[in-house]
Amino acid sequence: MAGAEHSMSFDVAAVRRQFPILSEIIDGLPVHYLDNGASAQTPLAVIDAVRHYETTSRANVLRGVHRLAERATEAYENARAEVAKFLGVQPMEVIFTGGCTAAINLVAYSYGSLLKPGDRILLSELEHHSNIVPWQLLRARSGIEIDVIPVTEDGRIDLTQLPRLLTPKTRLVSLAHVSNVTGALLDVRAVVAAAKSVGARVMLDGAQRAPHGPLDLPSLGIDFYVFAGHKAYGPNGIGILWGKPELLDAMPPFMGGGSMIGRVTFAETTWAPSPRRFEAGTPAIGPAIGLGAACTWMQSLDWTAAHDHEMSLVQRLMDGLQKVDGTRLFGPASLQNRYPVVSFMLEGVHPHDVAQTLDSFGVAVRAGHHCAQPLMDRFDLDGTTRVSMAPYNDNTDIDALLAGVAHAARTLR
Ligand code: ALA
Repeated sequence: MAGAEHSMSFDVAAVRRQFPILSEIIDGLPVHYLDNGASAQTPLAVIDAVRHYETTSRANVLRGVHRLAERATEAYENARAEVAKFLGVQPMEVIFTGGCTAAINLVAYSYGSLLKPGDRILLSELEHHSNIVPWQLLRARSGIEIDVIPVTEDGRIDLTQLPRLLTPKTRLVSLAHVSNVTGALLDVRAVVAAAKSVGARVMLDGAQRAPHGPLDLPSLGIDFYVFAGHKAYGPNGIGILWGKPELLDAMPPFMGGGSMIGRVTFAETTWAPSPRRFEAGTPAIGPAIGLGAACTWMQSLDWTAAHDHEMSLVQRLMDGLQKVDGTRLFGPASLQNRYPVVSFMLEGVHPHDVAQTLDSFGVAVRAGHHCAQPLMDRFDLDGTTRVSMAPYNDNTDIDALLAGVAHAARTLR
């Protein structure tokens, strides 16, 4: 029964009731959704907020003087404030982007245009391709250099290598806050202290961290933060860049168009201040409003209890997988400083075949390289099967997955 592990501190059944898709029977199978790292499900609060905009306030923003335009602009700016509250920052420091990838590309293009040949960017071996390729494009355009922090055997960024890899030429350290493959949480304070000692800026890719509770970005001492709406219970096609105001104010636009200008003449155009400067054209208004609602929804949860609940699922999963002959787990063995993402291999079975077997049990996971091919190379793998959890998952999801893996082990080898 869903919610069988209902506890005093975290009522998973009550959370599940807010996500209509979780109680659907689809193609005759229940929904055991464990692919949250790729895209989370969305609660009624988000669906209702988008529906409310579309049915009562749909118009463009920042342009019209009619009632609907004013309602749309107010809802859009309220959403910015809701996101800012979730991040512990000021609304005008939050830029709506097309997603996490778009946000990193914005920084690589705009902040990157201020860099000089020979300047260095420090990444790690476990980065998502979204935090590698934009820097390679910048390298091709402007002659910067890229350095790479290796990954330890247990799937963490090896911070003992920082003193060797940070140089006076390092301008930016850009790392995953939580790995989308191993679930490892970055020791942000250690990174910031080391980066600041050489005058480097720090950007975190929060795609896999933001879906697990509110943040206090100023206390981290970082310079840029990005995350995606669809992984944080919001709509698709929306994401966030947060930056320190003094950095954003010094950065040139990424894209030109409407809304991002001060004054346009054919001789010269001036730019609006941030965040408008970086929001050219009509933004994704409905998705932004949905993301604002998702941030407010996340703030309604007790995340101490939710995190304990998520970690109890990780423990149940790791214990269960270890009982299946021929499984190999990647990532930290302990529950300390990690989030609910678990990657594994079933010896002799391709991860895609494992995922297909699981699908026939109603269990959704991701299999493959997870857009982290350098990390796959580090472990000499083509791919893994990845289980990524959210607060609405329960023991029945994990048990269905374990039954599917045991079946794959029996039938596919
Ligand atoms: N970046 C997403 C993932 O890791 C798509 O699955």
